Amino acid sequence: MKKAIVTSMCLILGAGVASAQITNSAHDFSNETWSNGTICLPCHTTHDGETAFVAPLWNHEVTTSNFTMYTSDTLDGEVDAQPADVSKACLSCHDGTVALENFGGNTTGTTYIGGGALVGTDLSNDHPISVTYSAGTGTGQDPELNPTSATYADGTIADYLFANKVECATCHDVHNGGAVGGNPSLLVEDPAGSTICLRCHAK
Ligand code: HEC
Ligand code: HEC
Ligand code: HEC
Ligand code: HEC
Repeated sequence: MKKAIVTSMCLILGAGVASAQITNSAHDFSNETWSNGTICLPCHTTHDGETAFVAPLWNHEVTTSNFTMYTSDTLDGEVDAQPADVSKACLSCHDGTVALENFGGNTTGTTYIGGGALVGTDLSNDHPISVTYSAGTGTGQDPELNPTSATYADGTIADYLFANKVECATCHDVHNGGAVGGNPSLLVEDPAGSTICLRCHAK
């Protein structure tokens, strides 16, 4: 009995630690030249952050790209004309227009994101972002969305929305190294069996 308790404690502790790990994740920049070997600084600062607020104490040059947003005949929720600030934070590296080393006031970098990590400025073929989460049967509502009180990752769907919208950080944990089975895509939960999709979409 005692052993069982100890084991479950370890499991709880293990999960907690893992979900907060940036070390060894795709966002562990400590071995990169462009980051000067730092992890947090390319994204955050303690003082004198970028004056345009996109995310807490933001330290990276912010993208000024004009993005093509998602649209479709069957979409019910409203999509913003351009990505919301919290998603612009991601796109400030992932749209490929701002150099990675352009943080802390530097604007002369030459290293750009590439390969599979390059999302670009055309978001029309990506899962909608800056889209209102509108579950329901009324106009502008999607009857096949679960209520925002439904379980999602470490809480409810509502906990992961930003001003009631789905943003990049709704599905991705920017600080998460490997909550589940390697989790190379920094997802908030295991994508196995498309669980993450079914949390929101009642399909
Ligand atoms: C690749 C960029 C990036 C890196 C690296 C990064 N962050 Fe963040 N951080 C973000 C973004 C974007 C947000 C806002 C979105 C969110 O909360 O998920 C955020 C939010 C936060 C927040 C407020 C919300 C929360 O999760 O509590 C804190 C505190 C924070 N980061 C601390 C850190 C520290 C400390 C480090 C270094 C160990 C770090 N971050 C590394 C991008 C980054
Ligand atoms: C946090 C909730 C959430 C998660 C997780 C999520 N979605 Fe969505 N998804 C939405 C919302 C909200 C919309 C907009 C629906 C609407 O208003 O019609 C949407 C839209 C879509 C659309 C476009 C629908 C249309 O009519 O054009 C597709 C396809 C889709 N999601 C597939 C997925 C897949 C596949 C996954 C898993 C990889 C996923 N979603 C994960 C919330 C989510
Ligand atoms: C400071 C620049 C920067 C910011 C800001 C940033 N990233 Fe990244 N991200 C990177 C780099 C660099 C990599 C590693 C790319 C590689 O391995 O080629 C990466 C990797 C990733 C990966 C894994 C890619 C893969 O190929 O599997 C995901 C997913 C990701 N980022 C999502 C996000 C999201 C979501 C945000 C915002 C919440 C964000 N990033 C903010 C620089 C950034
Ligand atoms: C609805 C959930 C959802 C949203 C919103 C979302 N992603 Fe993803 N993303 C995923 C999933 C699931 C994967 C891994 C599976 C795949 O490759 O499609 C992924 C993969 C990635 C990758 C790895 C490369 C790749 O194509 O496999 C990057 C980089 C990335 N996302 C960045 C972003 C950025 C930046 C945003 C916001 C502009 C964003 N994501 C919004 C669910 C999402």
